[in-house]
Parts: sequence; structure tokens; C-alpha cells
Amino acid sequence: MPGPMPEVWKVDVAVEVGRFDAHLARLTADEAARAARFHRDEDRERFVVGRSTRRLLLARRLGVDAGTLAFVEGRHGKPALRPGAHPRLPHFNSSHSGRWVLHVVADVEVGVDVERVRPDFARIDDFLWVLSPEERRLVLSAPEPCRAAALATVWVRKEAYVKALGEGLSRSLPDIGIVSGSHGEPALAYDRSPGGTGRRWRFADLEIDDLHKACVVHEGAARRIVVREFAH
Ligand SMILES: CC(C)(COP(=O)(O)OP(=O)(O)OC[C@H]1O[C@@H](n2cnc3c(N)ncnc32)[C@H](O)[C@@H]1OP(=O)(O)O)[C@@H](O)C(=O)NCCC(=O)NCCS
Repeated sequence: MPGPMPEVWKVDVAVEVGRFDAHLARLTADEAARAARFHRDEDRERFVVGRSTRRLLLARRLGVDAGTLAFVEGRHGKPALRPGAHPRLPHFNSSHSGRWVLHVVADVEVGVDVERVRPDFARIDDFLWVLSPEERRLVLSAPEPCRAAALATVWVRKEAYVKALGEGLSRSLPDIGIVSGSHGEPALAYDRSPGGTGRRWRFADLEIDDLHKACVVHEGAARRIVVREFAH
């Protein structure tokens, strides 16, 4: 019996920055020090709102006070809740781009990525090195005005997958082939690394807005994904 469905939380940084001090107060001393080192206000705001809302959402899910949560990082930096304090810890992952922070919370391993469709994505040759042959074909078959969006779509699927694995960009990206499945949904065709074999991954493209592409990847049986707007 599958557990609760993966929840994706969409946080609008432009709104939450109105509560900046309250968000900052929720960070650890280390996180606050890291926030202070950002040169650009928008990067600092995204980081502070991201860490604070992640803490709030996980605390809500566990029914505990946000201040009681402690985090650890995997070998390539993937954050997780520190084991021990609660019997069944949720998995989660986060991504930010532009005004959006996305958090996904699930009872299985997950990864999420959101990316603004940058105009330079249309210069497809600069990005071909990250794509598998199948993904190149998919991007190059898009009509030219849609190429940047097609590349962003392929990119967020791939990055969400390597984030689900916890390996991030330490992975050789062309060794991973993500194609369209039988119903048009993205699916993992192959992963030539031993880390990716023997596990079943499900992909879901997410609707964010006209300027961004996003994807969530989770392990195990297919589930319906719910996308919720973060609110206090
Ligand atoms: C994880 C990674 C793909 C993020 O890329 P990005 O597009 O810049 O950032 P995103 O906004 O999508 O995601 C950032 C979030 O991912 C999470 N994250 C960090 N490392 C992660 C990893 N290895 N796997 C999954 N999630 C990770 C963090 O929550 C981070 O946000 P936070 O610092 O505010 O908490 C990238 O930083 C990476 O590959 N890191 C691993 C380190 C590494 O091996 N680097 C090799 C560089 S060539």
C-alpha cells in the first residue's frame, strides 16, 4: 500500500520576502552566516526563504516544532533529516530559480528541479554535452522558437533525477537517457552508472508558470503528485 502522495510546495519568494525577518529567525547560526555571505540581495532572500519554509513544512508534516529539526548532508551535499528523533522521517528535496522555491516532501526518495527558460538555452550547441543522444534528438526536433523551452524541460528532468539519487552534477550527464514514455510522460530509458540501476524512478513534469520548467522524480510506484502554494 503506497503511503501519502508526494507533495510539491511552491513558494513565491517575492511574497515571502515581506516576512524576511521571521524567516531569518528560523535559520541556524551557520545558515544565517551563509546568508550574510551572499553578494546579491535576491540570492540571500531566496536562500533564507528556502531554508525557513523547508523547515516549516517538514515540522508541520511531523507535527513538531520547527526548531527541533536537525539536518545532515549526504556525500554530495544532499540534505536529509538527521535520523533518530522521529520513527518515520520524510524524504525531501528543494530547488530554486527566479522568484520560485520548490520543496518536495515524500515518503520515498525524491528530487526536484526548477529552471527559468533562459534565452541562451536557444544556443543549443553550448549544452549538447550534457544530453544523451535521445535527448539531443528531442531538443533538436523542437521548432526553433521552442528550443530553449525544450532544452529547459530536458534539463530539469535530468537534474531532478541526479538530485533524487543525491549525486547532483558529480554524475556524467550524457550517460543518463530520459525519454518520453508510452503515455508521453518522461521516463528513464537507461542510466549507465551502477548507482542508478535496480531502482524504479517516476518522473512528473510540473506546471509552474510560463517562464519556468520544473520536474519531480520519486522512487517506487507511480503516485499522483499534488502541487500546493505555500501559505502561512
Ligand atoms: C545539487 C545541485 C545539482 C544543485 O544545483 P542548482 O541548480 O544550482 O540548485 P537547485 O536550486 O536546483 O538546488 C539546490 C538545492 O539542492 C539541494 N542539494 C544540494 N546538494 C544536493 C545533492 N547532491 N543532491 C540533491 N539535492 C542537493 C539543496 O537543498 C540545495 O538548496 P539549499 O542549499 O538552499 O538547501 C548541484 O549543486 C550539485 O551537483 N551539487 C553536488 C556537488 C557536486 O558534486 N558538485 C560537482 C560540481 S561539477
